[in-house]
Amino acid sequence: MKEGIHMFQFSRHRRLRTTSAMRSLVRENKLEKADLIYPLFVVEGENVMTEVSSMPGVFQYSLDTIDKELAEIVALGIPSVILFGLPAEKDAIGTGAFHTHGIIQEATRYIKTRYPDLIVIADTCLCEYTDHGHCGVIEGETILNDESLAILSQTAVSQAEAGADIIAPSNMMDGFVYAIRQALDKAGYENIPIMSYAVKYASAYYGPFRDAADGAPQFGDRKSYQMDPANRREAKREAASDVAEGADFLIIKPAMAYMDIIRDTRNAHDLPIVAYNVSGEYAMVKAAAQNGWIEEEKIVMETLLGMKRAGADIIMTYHAKDVCRWIDQA
Ligand code: PBG
Ligand code: ZN
Repeated sequence: MKEGIHMFQFSRHRRLRTTSAMRSLVRENKLEKADLIYPLFVVEGENVMTEVSSMPGVFQYSLDTIDKELAEIVALGIPSVILFGLPAEKDAIGTGAFHTHGIIQEATRYIKTRYPDLIVIADTCLCEYTDHGHCGVIEGETILNDESLAILSQTAVSQAEAGADIIAPSNMMDGFVYAIRQALDKAGYENIPIMSYAVKYASAYYGPFRDAADGAPQFGDRKSYQMDPANRREAKREAASDVAEGADFLIIKPAMAYMDIIRDTRNAHDLPIVAYNVSGEYAMVKAAAQNGWIEEEKIVMETLLGMKRAGADIIMTYHAKDVCRWIDQA
């Protein structure tokens, strides 16, 4: 056989896959407890512990029932929680979001008093608190941008006052990072980081969450502020503006159908990248697992590892407690 005619080479990739120890030696990505953020739904009122029907294993808690859940979270080694609040009353401007004794503010105080080392992330949005269910204030059927920023800033400051460790604005108004950063700094909270929902798509995958948090829009949809799922380049502009405005973390949401966006954002920015494995992604896996159609543990671990491989440093997931149990058993 003449040299130079056949240019192909024979590669033995399987050399590095021969044993479990060898595979472990060359493993590129790892899912760890330290990567996880667990979402919690906190309800105003008493004696509430209600499972969300479309999210098996996920409950809404009032503050008098939540301690068992918190103790479990801490014992399992989950480092952080993100709080979503369900107020007793809603109004046009979402007063419950920024009230000193609002449900998130009280939940934050409760958690930080009992579990000071647990990182409390406050979701900063209005949709759970407005009677119309939109993430900003409205005029007619228009969601107003700049008018919403003032209320969102006030909400962020009240959350910081209550002791939140991180502010996570999810409202998708333009300029929300800039406005909230300024408000926090002015109130003396220059050391509280902003975990921005920088790239958030208008997604059907939020369906179960809207039951869990009772925040479905009462008219229209969120397409005038959340992103079009068809767009990739636009995600670069969304992330870049949040970085310029002072974001400390960048969230990409949802995760599974947006792995390319996670990778793009990782490549473009040095900030910690957060993937939000959202409610619909959780519900699909749970439903299939309950039917015995998939192996839940393997599917979840592979999916979350895929998010890390795509470039996420941190994962918000309703599977967090199970993941910790599986890590402990491994
Ligand atoms: C509200 C908010 C939503 C989610 C997080 N914050 C829903 C929405 O925008 O409609 C979705 C989370 C999930 O589906 O798990 N701003
Ligand atoms: Zn919202």
